[in-house]
Amino acid sequence: MYGPLRKIFREQKAVTYVKIYREQLYIKTFKIDRMILKDRFMEMKMTYLDHAATTAVKSEVLEEMLPYFAMHYGNPSALYRTSRKSRNAIETAREQVANAIKASKSEIYFCSGGTESDNWAILGASRQYKHKGMHMITSAIEHPAVLSSFRQLEKEGYEVSYLPVDSKGMVSLELLKESIRPDTILISIMMANNEVGTIEPLTEIGLIAKENGILFHTDAISVAGSLPIDVSALNVDLLSLSAHKFYGPKGIGALYIRKGTALEALHTGGEQEKGRRAGTENVPAIVGMGKAAELMVKNLDSHQKRMEQLRDEAIKRILDRFPEASLNGSRMERLPGNVNILFPGNAAESMIIKLDERGISVSSGSACTTGSPNPSHVLKAMGLSHKDAQCSLRFTFGEENTLQDVEDLLKALEEITT
Ligand SMILES: Cc1ncc(COP(=O)(O)O)c(C=O)c1O
Repeated sequence: MYGPLRKIFREQKAVTYVKIYREQLYIKTFKIDRMILKDRFMEMKMTYLDHAATTAVKSEVLEEMLPYFAMHYGNPSALYRTSRKSRNAIETAREQVANAIKASKSEIYFCSGGTESDNWAILGASRQYKHKGMHMITSAIEHPAVLSSFRQLEKEGYEVSYLPVDSKGMVSLELLKESIRPDTILISIMMANNEVGTIEPLTEIGLIAKENGILFHTDAISVAGSLPIDVSALNVDLLSLSAHKFYGPKGIGALYIRKGTALEALHTGGEQEKGRRAGTENVPAIVGMGKAAELMVKNLDSHQKRMEQLRDEAIKRILDRFPEASLNGSRMERLPGNVNILFPGNAAESMIIKLDERGISVSSGSACTTGSPNPSHVLKAMGLSHKDAQCSLRFTFGEENTLQDVEDLLKALEEITT
């Protein structure tokens, strides 16, 4: 807040605060100025271009959730009427989520979000099938929720093959086949990458896993709400979802577990979720996830087309205007709303702050690694130098964005780049 305040402050030619009595005067003028600036900030158009980090809860979703905080608050495990209301609401949500990914209702298990869903699939499967083998395969560009699960398993004596990716962020099917061993028990490859938007050849990976009798997990967290998901067509056994990426609430996710797939529980001490995930259910959040899933499939076709249009326009306009810039990730096999651009010589961190001063919210990659001084492991795995990886910005579009936002972004980029 301080940076933008000072800038507008300067524009108002109130620079005398740096003179004598600097501190006292600064405090005084800052206070007065804040009152003026507050209004100016309210008036400032905010352009949110970080939908891969999170999305706003839709009003229809919030409306569905509200009664389950203080009106229908019964514990779903109890036997009386108030509780039945909560239990029924969970089952409706389970059906809504199942329909969204063409699964059956009994294959959906709610948990605390995408991170837990990934952790559960990987830790649960590897411990469950330890007697069959202790080797697993993943890719170098997975989300930290996946990578950290594998690092944990390595400490427990498992072996993990981390598949490299090409310069577009694509996993090689040949390398995958070569990495399979008689003791391979799990393959976990994300459906699309959350930073650069590259869509992986999931159907083919699923077939390879199936032919070799290996369990297959995918993190579909950045795909839900952007592209259709069909668990049967993908041949997946385990699939992770997180509601806050498709206009649902934060802190709620789901794991699809194909019928007949055994999986060790991570949470124990209760019979919730058929005894597979203990803990009193977060009913309002589950209701919200269900409603968000229902809305997501209803509007998916038109939403996808709009996001592709915004993405393509942004890529074209940025690359035309900044000839030295380049697109990170695949041009064709790309998530609809994702644009990730390398601006050589322009530090991402500084650009993010300058864009924020102009009311535009963007990021340099995964929200979960923000604050880390290390450049993106995804961009590094795609072959970018340490420096170039630190000069890349991610813009991710969502429902409320329009072509005017692309226009505004371009104008702001012109002002801030060197
Ligand atoms: C691809 C991917 N996987 C997992 C997660 C973690 O999900 P959650 O924030 O619900 O824990 C995220 C969130 O950024 C993500 O983008």
